[in-house]
Amino acid sequence: MSMSADTAATSLAIEDGIAILTVSSPPVNALSARVRTGIAEGMRTASADPAAKAIVLICEGRTFIAGADISEFGKPPQGTPLAEMIATLEGAPKPVVAAIHGTALGGGLETALGAHYRVAVPSAKVGLPEVKLGIIPGAGGTQRLPRVVGVQRALEMITSGEFVSAAKAAESGLIDEIVEEGRLREGAVAFAKKVVAEGRPLKKVRDLSDKMDEARGKPEIFDAFRKAHARKFRGFEAPEGCIRAIEAAVNLPFDEGLKKEREIFNGLISGTQSKAQRYVFFAEREVRKIPDLPDDTKTLPVESVGIIGAGTMGGGIAMNFLNAGIPVTIVEQKQDALDRGLGIMRKNYEASAAKGRMKAEDVETRMGLVTGSLDMKDLGGADLVIEAIFENMDLKKETFAKLDAVAKPGAILASNTSYLDVNEIGAVTTRPDHVIGMHFFSPANVMRLLEVVRTDKATKEVVATAVKLAPKIGKLGVLVGVCHGFVGNRMLAQRQREANRLIEEGAMPWDVDRVLYEFGLPMGPFAMSDLAGLDIGWQKGQEATRLRDRLCDIDRRGQKTGAGFYDYDEKRKATPSKLVEQMVLDWSKEKGIARRPISDEEILQRLVFPMINEGAKILEEGKALRASDIDMVWITGYGWPVYRGGPMFYGDTIGLKTVLAKMEEWEKAIGPEFKPSALLRRKAEAGEQFTGAA
Ligand code: 3HC
Repeated sequence: MSMSADTAATSLAIEDGIAILTVSSPPVNALSARVRTGIAEGMRTASADPAAKAIVLICEGRTFIAGADISEFGKPPQGTPLAEMIATLEGAPKPVVAAIHGTALGGGLETALGAHYRVAVPSAKVGLPEVKLGIIPGAGGTQRLPRVVGVQRALEMITSGEFVSAAKAAESGLIDEIVEEGRLREGAVAFAKKVVAEGRPLKKVRDLSDKMDEARGKPEIFDAFRKAHARKFRGFEAPEGCIRAIEAAVNLPFDEGLKKEREIFNGLISGTQSKAQRYVFFAEREVRKIPDLPDDTKTLPVESVGIIGAGTMGGGIAMNFLNAGIPVTIVEQKQDALDRGLGIMRKNYEASAAKGRMKAEDVETRMGLVTGSLDMKDLGGADLVIEAIFENMDLKKETFAKLDAVAKPGAILASNTSYLDVNEIGAVTTRPDHVIGMHFFSPANVMRLLEVVRTDKATKEVVATAVKLAPKIGKLGVLVGVCHGFVGNRMLAQRQREANRLIEEGAMPWDVDRVLYEFGLPMGPFAMSDLAGLDIGWQKGQEATRLRDRLCDIDRRGQKTGAGFYDYDEKRKATPSKLVEQMVLDWSKEKGIARRPISDEEILQRLVFPMINEGAKILEEGKALRASDIDMVWITGYGWPVYRGGPMFYGDTIGLKTVLAKMEEWEKAIGPEFKPSALLRRKAEAGEQFTGAA
């Protein structure tokens, strides 16, 4: 090969009549220019060598090719284009066998689809996850996959980006043979020899037509698919791109279909959504990188967990550990509360089993790992205890003092507080260096976010333990500092304040909710309050200081009473309420506020810009490590649309100058709560971004 030894990402050997082209480009053998050129050259060399009767393409390290090199996107193209490289496989004059282990993803699976045959070990997985990056497969995946697995299955795989097991892939014809785990090379070579010996034809996927013929003239397949997934795809551009590309596979000759795919791919990759989704891909992986806690930081074992409080939060938190096979002791004050809590956990599991999301027998396995108790002493053996009781400082302090007395030395004591000062909580114990915050988000067994709150005194080991534990229990653990509401709720408070103010000034609750919903959030603040219950913080019998208290006074306490800001029917479908509309008007009048029309644009800016400003303060104060961590908090904890990259990234796409100008305007017109943060000002004036990625 022409590449020099030190830069070569591929190597070619011929053994016993079979050419073995090996890719070696850690960590995941992504298709960088070096890899693409290396494979294309290797294919040409092997094709021309009469000593090779067949070619096996295999990868070193942890995985087969995991896709295009995402870090090359947006940069000038270099080396052999991917489509051209794949054509060298498909056009080879002798059988090409892709040998798959780890994950063959995106361009990696597209490469494998260019081969004439595919073999894999049982643990391998394949998929086309491009949609998750806001794009579609751009190297023939949308044209070749449906030719192998059929249109319906291809629609599902490509629009979801799911990873499919080797066994399932074999069922659909995507994998030709499963070979023994750990013996991929031998298995692939044996398979190649068999193909040669039997004189099997070169199976070019591009030439397969049965499955396309079946689907031709049936546009209803696509319409039905769009309809069935409308909710999931809402706001995203890429899924529709995937569907259109697969339609092209059915309706156009192969080469024209490829052109169509390229056209859609190019349109998406230059758009904001894809930029945001690629940013999120890397942001998610940044989260775990903590400058003063290198990967080799010692951690403490967490083999058993205690939870104080069997309420909604405590039960949800417990489920995460049970799912991971970690035994939990859960302590309550009264038997009936304990029974209720355990009952809800069981019901949740049973509901998952009924929906086919887990095996029925696993309900018992998981519930078998939990022990209920009324005695805090039973937490003496736990490596980690998480307190999830009522949000009250005195109560928390009392609980921590008691816990400290019974917990074993070295155990980590964590509070699930959403707002309170965890340093103050830790100070009542004899081990403030083992006290941290672990803030879960409701429903705690579902939401991916975990804010790991680093206290002043917590040791590195303790913090690293919590951070490393997060992925084991299916969470994204974002490190945050002690401050009121930490990252997520601190920013949410800004939005909530403005939502309330906007309805006093002239908007209706459903206007505010609609603007956020159209922006891509699952629901707005008023619909959310109705769901959570308006009586949180309501003091019955006292004069209403908030409009929502007034709603509670007339027993409109949210969805649970069939009415709140909205009216609800028996299916919990919300409609704006005439009565509430009048109450809003009266409220403004009583406060002496002259209502005015407020545009959707102003609503959005008033809700979101103060959040961005607060995010900047959080960064300034060092309460989050980087802007992208803040964005991950909002994406995984509050349903911020991935395709908008998080509030800080969104600020960057709007332009920080615009955000700053608005904050200054409102500071003058409304009040000091809009004062721009110094960091926002500095970045805006320097023409910089928070994320540098927009
Ligand atoms: N390009 C560039 N870097 C990549 C990459 C890629 N495709 N895939 C992974 N990496 C990097 C990660 O950023 C990470 O870097 P870091 O260590 O510096 O943070 C490192 O490789 C290891 O990745 P993970 O930490 O994610 O390792 P895991 O073992 O947990 O997961 C994986 C491995 C399942 C392969 C996962 O990395 C993954 O899902 N990768 C992306 C796969 C993908 O989306 N492929 C499609 C790309 S788009 C495409 O192919 C377009 C084509 O159609 C033209």
